[in-house]
Amino acid sequence: MDPSAMLEHIEDKIRNGLEGKAIAACSGGLDSTLLAVLASRVLGENVLSIFVDTGLLREGEAERVEGLFKKHSINYKIVDAKQRFFSSLRGVTDPEEKRKRIGELFIRIFEEEAELFGADTLLQGTIAPDWIESGGGVRDTIKSHHNVGGLPKDIHLKILEPLRDLYKDEIRELCRYVGLDDSRQPFPGPGLAIRVIGEVTEERVELVRKINEIVERRVVELYSREDELPWQYFAVLLPVRSTGIHGDKRSYGYTAVIRIFDSLDAMSGEFRKVPWNFLESISTEITNRVKGINRVVYDITNKPPGTIEWE
Ligand code: XMP
Repeated sequence: MDPSAMLEHIEDKIRNGLEGKAIAACSGGLDSTLLAVLASRVLGENVLSIFVDTGLLREGEAERVEGLFKKHSINYKIVDAKQRFFSSLRGVTDPEEKRKRIGELFIRIFEEEAELFGADTLLQGTIAPDWIESGGGVRDTIKSHHNVGGLPKDIHLKILEPLRDLYKDEIRELCRYVGLDDSRQPFPGPGLAIRVIGEVTEERVELVRKINEIVERRVVELYSREDELPWQYFAVLLPVRSTGIHGDKRSYGYTAVIRIFDSLDAMSGEFRKVPWNFLESISTEITNRVKGINRVVYDITNKPPGTIEWE
């Protein structure tokens, strides 16, 4: 299908699936931002796009998303829920339990916001790989991607998922078509919570956020042409501590993982064979600049058998 026909098809789904007002859940990623733009084209002031600041976001993300909303004249609200997310994650180490708690809290916030706005429908940017890998297809449940499997059963909102048959390459094509920057890498809904292995605390999230900023910036510097950029490039924080030397003193710090990954549709893929001296210089920057990290490892696992994210 060509992009204009695809767009029309989606806009029809939004128009026909709704009576009255709706809110649109926008994480700032390509899928949900595309949906916010399309919903705003179809519904105007009758849709409110909600961006939840979970405290689990990348550096500068909330500001970037607000800029996008303004640029595309989208009716929006930013909800500061940082403390609610950190308290609901306290003591939780199991990845699926993290997703469940995050999914649950997202939905409770959307219900509250829908009530305030007078809407009964939630528009979600779920796409095909989300529900296929969450057990909606023929495969086993691999992970409950929060915008599908992690959702509580007792949702007091109608859910409309106009993008659910699309794959990432189609999303990118549509983004280009409506003037959205399609070069951004995917970022999981549960955010940095699933990149802090073990318990999620504000301090650990701050660490992984700093390391991630270094990895993202250095990869973009190395691959300056957009078509050379990997599918995803990010950092993971392990709760594993090891002995090292800082100055002339013994240190006992945490471990950072660098993941640089190529894929076409997130369903399978390979780690990028980046130059050794590049890894060396990122490692040096991380250990010099991020206090508490004294070891850096590179993930050389393909998917399958690994998944892209660690949790
Ligand atoms: P995995 O780790 O399953 O990731 O190989 C495949 C793609 O999905 C993203 N991902 C998520 N996206 N909620 C999301 O919205 C999630 O819980 C989630 N887990 C993984 C991941 O970043 C990759 O692009």
